[in-house]
Amino acid sequence: MTGVEAPNAAQEVPERPRAAGRQDWTAWPKYNAAGSGYRGYWYPVTWSSHITGTPQSYTICGEKLALIRDAGKVYALHDRCPHRGVPLSEGDQQFPGTVSCPYHGWTYRLTDGKLVAVITDGPDSKICGKVEVQTYAAQERLGLVWVYIPITREPAPPLDEQLPRELVENEGIVGGRIQPRAGNWRFACENGFDEGHAKYLHRTSLWRLFKPMPTWNITRIVREGRWIYRVQDEVYWEAEFPGVGKWTNKRWWKKRPDETKVSQIGNVGAGLEVNPVIAAQNFPGFASLSMPGVLRISYPNFIHYEFYVPVDDDNHRYVGLMVNFVTGVHKLGFYAKYLGAIRWLFHGQFSGQDAWMVEVTDAPPEKLYRPDVSLTAWRNLAEEEYAEKLTAAVEFVKQPVAHTRARRASAKQNGTGEAASAQSVPSSE
Ligand code: FES
Ligand SMILES: [Fe+2]
Repeated sequence: MTGVEAPNAAQEVPERPRAAGRQDWTAWPKYNAAGSGYRGYWYPVTWSSHITGTPQSYTICGEKLALIRDAGKVYALHDRCPHRGVPLSEGDQQFPGTVSCPYHGWTYRLTDGKLVAVITDGPDSKICGKVEVQTYAAQERLGLVWVYIPITREPAPPLDEQLPRELVENEGIVGGRIQPRAGNWRFACENGFDEGHAKYLHRTSLWRLFKPMPTWNITRIVREGRWIYRVQDEVYWEAEFPGVGKWTNKRWWKKRPDETKVSQIGNVGAGLEVNPVIAAQNFPGFASLSMPGVLRISYPNFIHYEFYVPVDDDNHRYVGLMVNFVTGVHKLGFYAKYLGAIRWLFHGQFSGQDAWMVEVTDAPPEKLYRPDVSLTAWRNLAEEEYAEKLTAAVEFVKQPVAHTRARRASAKQNGTGEAASAQSVPSSE
């Protein structure tokens, strides 16, 4: 019998051409790992008016929270009773300043999560003071409740440091919409800053019924501070596509764009009067994005913000705010316009087209094209900023003294009442 040597498999199988495109997001490891969101940020959870003395459940960054209002202030606790794991949001308030679990009446203090009474174990319950649930810094701003999701046990930084500066420094009126939406928060965020889609996907939206949009642009991404901006260098309102024909977004009934200039405010033609507060910002481009997924689109008369709040790997909360920087009676005018039209056309149908795409996006793998520089610039920004944040968090836990002091200072600033809890952290002071 003559033995035939098996051919080397590597020689036998012709090498397959590598699939073009990106197979995964390992080029951005932290972004890749942030499926359920980035910890270490404040997130808007719901409207202030929705939080009452009855606890309610919300999930942010995969973390279950019970939110409750007591004596006018909002508190956030981990939504799980340590006794048998029943959600505290199923419970209610039996004593001021506390929340009681519905099952056996374990009662937790809202300011620091400490177990202060066990109704079914009598007034001398030995377990009181030995158990606590985690509390989270919570604040109200812009008519919304914001909660800080910590990386470790670090104190919450001031919310104002994270909010867009123009919202902290100027008076305005807010109209908005919050919706639970399907799809990962990163798809929502990438869709928000995506250079390519608006001109095509939204061409049928009623919001753009009388306003034309370009066909394609040459766009640059510019970074300024913690924001990246899409800067339009060239705008093409129509184009002749070789071999297939002409394509344009222009229609006879739509306003004619001024094709002689490129506007950096709104996806509209140049030459419109711009609100002085918006003009004073000198944004290099009308669309900008910052961590942890905050989109800002400036128009001549208002700025539209989208917060893509991570819920879990497959869901996010869409928080869309339209802010008009007006005072006095002008506020009423904006509110009427918001409820009468903007809410339905923009936060409804237009934004619904985005929700549809976010729900059906399935990437990676992906093959990016020229306008997707908006996506890669965002991932680079996220990767860079989060690396710095993680380093700071690691440094923080290494310093027990600083840890305790910072928690106390933060508790005072954020009004969480964590000062009491911080005092119980062993320290070498
Ligand atoms: S599970 Fe909460 S009191 Fe028993
Ligand atoms: Fe869109």
